[in-house]
Amino acid sequence: MPPKNSNAQVATEEDVSAPQNITDGGNYVENLYFGVELNCVPDLVTQLEEYRREFDFITVPLAHPRNERDMSEGAIVEEEPFARSDMLLSSGQWGSLIIGKISPWIDLDSKDVYNRKNSERVLLQELSWASHLNLPALILPTPTHNSTNYAQVVNRKLQGLMYMNLWMRVPLMSTWQMLHDDETQITFGDNHRATQDPWEHWNTFRTLCEHSDKLCVALELTENVPHERVISRWLGEPVRAVIIPTRIFTTNKSGFPVLSKAHQRVLQMFFKYKIQYILSGPARHKNSFVPYRQYVQFLYSKSPQPTYDESFMTPYLDYLQAPLQPLMDNLESQTYETFERDATKYQLYEDAVFECLTDMKNGGKLEGRTHIVLMVVGAGRGPLVKASLRASVRAGCPLKVYAVEKNPNAIITLKNLRISMNWGDQVTIVDSDMRVWNAPELADVLVSELLGSFGDNELSPECLDGAQRFLKGEPDVWFVRLTQDIEGGISIPASYTSYLAPISSSKLWNEVRAYKEMKHYETPYVVKMHNFYQLGESQECFTFVHPNRDEYIDNQRYINLSFRATQSATVHGLAGYFNSLLYGSVYMSINPANHSPGMFSWFPLYFPLRDPMYVAKDDVITVHMWRNNNRVKVWYEWSIVSPQVSPIHNVGGRSYWIGL
Ligand SMILES: C[S@@+](CC[C@H](N)C(=O)[O-])C[C@H]1O[C@@H](n2cnc3c(N)ncnc32)[C@H](O)[C@@H]1O
Repeated sequence: MPPKNSNAQVATEEDVSAPQNITDGGNYVENLYFGVELNCVPDLVTQLEEYRREFDFITVPLAHPRNERDMSEGAIVEEEPFARSDMLLSSGQWGSLIIGKISPWIDLDSKDVYNRKNSERVLLQELSWASHLNLPALILPTPTHNSTNYAQVVNRKLQGLMYMNLWMRVPLMSTWQMLHDDETQITFGDNHRATQDPWEHWNTFRTLCEHSDKLCVALELTENVPHERVISRWLGEPVRAVIIPTRIFTTNKSGFPVLSKAHQRVLQMFFKYKIQYILSGPARHKNSFVPYRQYVQFLYSKSPQPTYDESFMTPYLDYLQAPLQPLMDNLESQTYETFERDATKYQLYEDAVFECLTDMKNGGKLEGRTHIVLMVVGAGRGPLVKASLRASVRAGCPLKVYAVEKNPNAIITLKNLRISMNWGDQVTIVDSDMRVWNAPELADVLVSELLGSFGDNELSPECLDGAQRFLKGEPDVWFVRLTQDIEGGISIPASYTSYLAPISSSKLWNEVRAYKEMKHYETPYVVKMHNFYQLGESQECFTFVHPNRDEYIDNQRYINLSFRATQSATVHGLAGYFNSLLYGSVYMSINPANHSPGMFSWFPLYFPLRDPMYVAKDDVITVHMWRNNNRVKVWYEWSIVSPQVSPIHNVGGRSYWIGL
């Protein structure tokens, strides 16, 4: 049982690597959004002007940090205002350049009733003032393992917030975690360790606050760095800012501030997210914050730049999309255009057809014949027809092609292609649903791409079961099939398997919640997951093989899968992926374990949970998943039954189904 901070790393002088002159770093693609935390602000206007030359914003206390005012009932009302006037800055400046900070001394869970009540009043007063100023964000003091009353007051206020977000200041490691090595921590037991874990404090607080999307995290780096797994858990949390204390920097030979390799790695993990960076503490180097900023900016410029494909995907990050229904609906030109940009996918198909035709040729299938009959079923605007013809030339194996498509609009494109590409008699275009088409001859090869992000979720099994009637060796009368040569025709893909894994993603869950309707919690969404953390490797879910030679074809499925939590976390749903064997040695996968490099046609599927579920370290997360059908539709139902029991989602396909 590895403890939470196993492999903790402490910054040392040796692992510091940095340029001698950071201004030579160059090569910035985009600047990080940087601010400075100030604790003493006697002249807001002048200080803002000064810092604005080098920084994007400043964070300032709303009241003087030592102004422990008495706000109890009957207390003498102070003449002095507790905060500076809002007239010092324009509302535009307050709303974009200033992040507020709540007084650090308040203690809403104090055993002392006076102190508790006074703290409540001060917190409400400062929250109200920050809303009045229309600040973009307000930093809240760090919660402890006992912050229930603090959460109650914040939660009340969260209900009415419109523009402003609350950023909870959370350290990456607690002092206790930094003081105790892995072995010693174990001896304290799980419960004690949880009381010392800042993530647990945050998790309890946000759970009390109903997982509000207005409550976010300002993660403060600490002298020590925990195991990478512990940092990864924050990638599923709404981290809006990383606070970098100046005390964690060391000095290189030229006198510039630099960070240890371990700290650099933490920052590299967050550079992928659009968040703010805040320098805090006194400027110890050259008496200015600028070298710190330049150094972090330098690290950013040295981090891997997004590839062309990654840049292309930026608008889709964490953006929920309803899955396509290519069987029930007719896809639009724009959708086909997006598919066709994915050169990798068509190259994989070309390679699969090439391997298949080569095997057929070498296996004597061409003997006594002029060509192989290949049918592209669900041809769309023709990219798989083109890929198959390219493979035929490569393999030196002549083809006769049928392009079967049920979308009448795509048929127009196919007919035009037939003319412009001079396909002539080599390609026959068929305007029909493959499930009912009466083919004039049998096919040696059926090529299709009817796959969804979860493999079978665009009804490839049902379509191909209908189409295999016209595949060689697959007559539609089952008792005849028994007497046939089952070495007959080939389907590309030969099989596909879906995969599942529990994930933590406050972001995705809140996106679903924003719809304010139960049915959305029961709808799987296609989404390029970004602000998420996956609790373990994905596991195999449902497999379909084509042609399907079962005596009775049954496409219903049911499985349960168990995952062991390597650390405590909050589960917000499941991630779904697929892997497909196209033919021979050619696979096509979006499963993270073996994702086809460069392929972007499919984003994962997100199956939400109605309520986020806390799981403790070493808990077994048991997931149940069903694929059900009736004469008109197919649907999934899902549930987690341990460590807690969720309702079964999407009973009878009441919220989401795929039309047959
Ligand atoms: C995901 S698209 C793939 C299109 C194209 N093969 C490609 O790779 O770009 C699936 C295509 O199959 C068609 N399709 C789906 N079910 C079908 C059916 N039962 N019969 C014929 N075409 C079907 C859809 O209209 C759509 O054009």
